[in-house]
Amino acid sequence: MTDRGVSDAGITAQITAQLRDQGIADLTVFDAITAEPEMAVVETCRDLFVQHQCDGIIAVGGGSAMDTAKAVAVFVGDERPLSELFGEDQVASRRYPLICLPTTAGTGSEVTNISILADTEAQIKKGIVSNELLPDVAIVAPELTLSCPPSVTAASGIDALVHAVESYLSNFATALTEPYSLAAITKIRASLERAYRQPDDLAAREEMATASLMAGLAFGNAGVGAVHALAYPLGGRYHLSHGMSNAVMFVPVMRWNQAACPGRFVALAHAFGAAPDIRNAEAGEYVLSEIQRLCDAVNIPSQLRAFNIPESALSELALAASGVTRLLRNNPRELSVSDIEDIYREAY
Ligand SMILES: NC(=O)c1ccc[n+]([C@@H]2O[C@H](COP(=O)([O-])OP(=O)(O)OC[C@H]3O[C@@H](n4cnc5c(N)ncnc54)[C@H](O)[C@@H]3O)[C@@H](O)[C@H]2O)c1
Ligand SMILES: [Fe+2]
Repeated sequence: MTDRGVSDAGITAQITAQLRDQGIADLTVFDAITAEPEMAVVETCRDLFVQHQCDGIIAVGGGSAMDTAKAVAVFVGDERPLSELFGEDQVASRRYPLICLPTTAGTGSEVTNISILADTEAQIKKGIVSNELLPDVAIVAPELTLSCPPSVTAASGIDALVHAVESYLSNFATALTEPYSLAAITKIRASLERAYRQPDDLAAREEMATASLMAGLAFGNAGVGAVHALAYPLGGRYHLSHGMSNAVMFVPVMRWNQAACPGRFVALAHAFGAAPDIRNAEAGEYVLSEIQRLCDAVNIPSQLRAFNIPESALSELALAASGVTRLLRNNPRELSVSDIEDIYREAY
């Protein structure tokens, strides 16, 4: 399972050739996955899986291909409509093997137990969450990301950074997730701009692939928070890519969060390269300015108005985001609907 962009980059042919060399010749390639996948694609692909009597899934691509594959893997053999699989632990046991090869450095989906799909009717992105979605094998090869165009490198790289920061600040962060979150931040700060400017810099790609994996392991256990919750309706209603919608909410949500946990912002500041003796009072601003600097360096617009979203839509967006309680409960500072609307206004 892959998409056209990945196939056009020659990656699909390379992998199917290697499989054929190993005697695995009976392959069905599905490359009609769309970016920010919709439910209908999962249904089509499930039918193809059944029709071709497939016996396992290999996903080659970014989060869109991997999330579609993860959903198909648990949907095959389930008689219920796909909509009933949304939420936590609503799926039956997965019966077919699933291997994921990420071709972007961003989502960490190769090690997480969630598939995010666009519910076109409800105009929001929703998650199927279950450990049944965890791939059996993840093959993280930075070479597969060399052909990523700069805009994809930027958006997916900032997504990985959001995973790292939000998992560190999560109410469910632990001693096992924190080191991965912090190490991922340091790597992304050092390598994202290089991977963006010099796409064939394999050392930078390797650092980004490792950081994305570490951030995935961290947020797969600790969760992400309000940046993602406020990003979801932007993807659902206005079709901003996942990375872009997170990037635009990143600084405003962190400005809100810093008051709740100044000590944790000191640790974040150190991961972002601050001097060891940075004071509590300076750490928050330092982190915000580093995030803004990185987004600017990879040319990500930092204001909602740049995406043709009318200002009159903000209160409705706030209402939609306030419903993403699965993520809001991870956030270190609570948000009411009007707090969320204020944050959208700041991002506007
Ligand atoms: N399950 C999770 O844990 C999780 C976490 C974060 C995001 N996501 C989801 O992941 C999706 C976004 O994934 P993404 O940021 O990886 O982007 P993507 O998979 O949507 O890919 C973006 C574009 O880049 C192209 N592309 C990807 N790799 C390429 C390569 N190596 N060479 C050339 N072109 C390439 C694709 O063809 C596509 O056009 C969203 O749907 C988001 O909701 C899932
Ligand atoms: Fe994300």
